[in-house]
Amino acid sequence: MKDNMKRYILGIETSCDETGAAVYESGVGLISNALYSQSLMHEQFGGVLPELASRTQLEKINFIIEQALKAANITLADIDTIAVTHKPGLPGSLLVGVCFAKAMAWATNKKIIGVNHLEGHIFSSFLEYNVPFPHLCLSASGGHTSLYYVTGFGKYEVIGETIDDAAGEAFDKIARLMNLAYPGGPLIEKLAQAAEFKDYFNYPRSMGQSLDFSFSGLKTAVLYDLVKQNAYDMQTKKFLKDDDLVFKQKVASSLLVCMADIFTHKIIRALKEYKDTKAITFVGGVACNKYIKQQLARVAHKHDLKFFAPSPQYCTDNGAMIAFVGNYKAEKNEFSAFDLDILK
Ligand code: KG4
Ligand code: ZN
Repeated sequence: MKDNMKRYILGIETSCDETGAAVYESGVGLISNALYSQSLMHEQFGGVLPELASRTQLEKINFIIEQALKAANITLADIDTIAVTHKPGLPGSLLVGVCFAKAMAWATNKKIIGVNHLEGHIFSSFLEYNVPFPHLCLSASGGHTSLYYVTGFGKYEVIGETIDDAAGEAFDKIARLMNLAYPGGPLIEKLAQAAEFKDYFNYPRSMGQSLDFSFSGLKTAVLYDLVKQNAYDMQTKKFLKDDDLVFKQKVASSLLVCMADIFTHKIIRALKEYKDTKAITFVGGVACNKYIKQQLARVAHKHDLKFFAPSPQYCTDNGAMIAFVGNYKAEKNEFSAFDLDILK
């Protein structure tokens, strides 16, 4: 049992195919972070299978919470508040975390805080860095891609978002066209590196006039280019250059350069509008990508701004970012009622 004056927040994340739990100590920082990733289980289906995801959440959540408490060297009795991702995400997966958190909090007389998953990502850089306000945050993952103007803890405005596919989804879908495993993003990066991040095929950049993103056209453009280069058969829906590693490297490299161009272009445009910006952050699963990080860091440097991207374990879904948001919400007395739901 720890000092009674200390406040511990347990953060729970189950919005998709990761089961995460972490403990944050108020005024101190993150003291544990446990995770179970199902990505290998979903690889064979080429994407996340919702039924399998929620069932596995249920199987793993108890163990992962125990792991987080054990690593923090505390027990459930020491926890003051339980913060849990309540939206957005896969309904079945979200329900596991929310029901578990509510039942635990009810049975042990603790406070509860519902955390928006996207808010978790926005503030994930703070787990490691003291990012100044206001700043621009580019959040890109398999489920969302948004640009935010962030003015304080819990204070942010969406200034651009995808009107169709998410950036990670585009990586995953194009990877799938080439028979690459799920998730495609890391594999695309590896192939692109071998092709030295050069632009071979000059895929169209859909820049538009606003700060919004659109990636579905890029997928179609890559598909048509593969067909044109006799690499894909539309009739059988088969990739025809499985054995041509150099070709796959060129596609991956051209795609990555194109995506990085889209991101840097939007950030430069946003900086013209949000002139008091002090920093740029890049978060979400796609922020694991070293090449895109480099390009964004270059833009930040040119504009005399700081650049921050979390370490990979805080880019992909995790309980730590939920515990972090839970902590500042607890400090502001922003607790949730027990009718907390995945819809509101
Ligand atoms: O944040 P995350 O774990 O889950 C969602 O909330 O979606 O992000 C997963 C996404 C996948 O689409 C994956 O392909 C992408 O992030 N991703 C990457 C890289 N690592 C993961 N995309 C590009 N380059 C990477 N290195
Ligand atoms: Zn996420």
